[in-house]
Amino acid sequence: MNVKDKVIVITGGASGIGLSCSEKLLLRDAKFVAIFDVPSPSVEATVNKLKKQFGDNRTGLYACDVTKNEQVESSFGKVIDLFGSFDVLINSAGIFSQVNWQHMIDVNFTGLVRTTLKAIDLIGKHKGGKGGTILNVASTLGFKPWEYMPIYSGTKSGVIGITLGLKHFYPITGVRMLLVCPGFTDTSFSPKLFSATYFDFIDAEKLKENTKGKICQPWVF
Ligand SMILES: NC(=O)c1ccc[n+]([C@@H]2O[C@H](COP(=O)([O-])OP(=O)(O)OC[C@H]3O[C@@H](n4cnc5c(N)ncnc54)[C@H](O)[C@@H]3O)[C@@H](O)[C@H]2O)c1
Repeated sequence: MNVKDKVIVITGGASGIGLSCSEKLLLRDAKFVAIFDVPSPSVEATVNKLKKQFGDNRTGLYACDVTKNEQVESSFGKVIDLFGSFDVLINSAGIFSQVNWQHMIDVNFTGLVRTTLKAIDLIGKHKGGKGGTILNVASTLGFKPWEYMPIYSGTKSGVIGITLGLKHFYPITGVRMLLVCPGFTDTSFSPKLFSATYFDFIDAEKLKENTKGKICQPWVF
């Protein structure tokens, strides 16, 4: 819980849940929050705002699409060059798309596996590192798949599986694996749920009706 003086990497840290984490970590005296995100005018404006609020030397944007191995390698490399290591990785990058479901799997699951394994390689005690913490953002739907979002639910079940599997190696890696499963949260993500094109065997109107007022409490492990 104590993040004072910690160097923290956060994927998807420029919007929604990730942005909220970035702000809270900076407020709680994290040394540096490295935001790994896909650059866009709004992402850049958000990070500039954080820099103005907390100082240029407390946060930075690293152009990192988690589906691209070379961008992940180079972004972690820049953080290591600056600080020698880092303490925490938060994997919050995620998308929802039923149409482009392969890309959704690439971002939500494969991308998260990529950054997780890279981080364990860089900070793991078995490699001479100091250990640390990885916090993965899954979803309540990973535990209780929702029929209207079957593939998204599957990506989040995968995130739960890899996190709970890797946590057993803490005695070797010194890397704690933590999991948070948010319920519906009002972010830029939310409108996408309601405007998405659904599989033709899914009743989108019923989805909207069933979702009304269902903002659930997050589950934290
Ligand atoms: N909002 C919800 O209701 C909800 C509920 C449960 C879980 N979640 C999960 O929480 C996480 C954050 O979602 P959010 O609601 O804050 O959404 P958001 O859209 O506000 O934020 C997602 C962030 O991920 C970034 N991103 C997208 N693709 C990326 C990629 N390929 N590489 C790097 N960054 C990428 C985006 O630029 C954005 O900054 C996601 O993993 C999502 O699945 C959200």
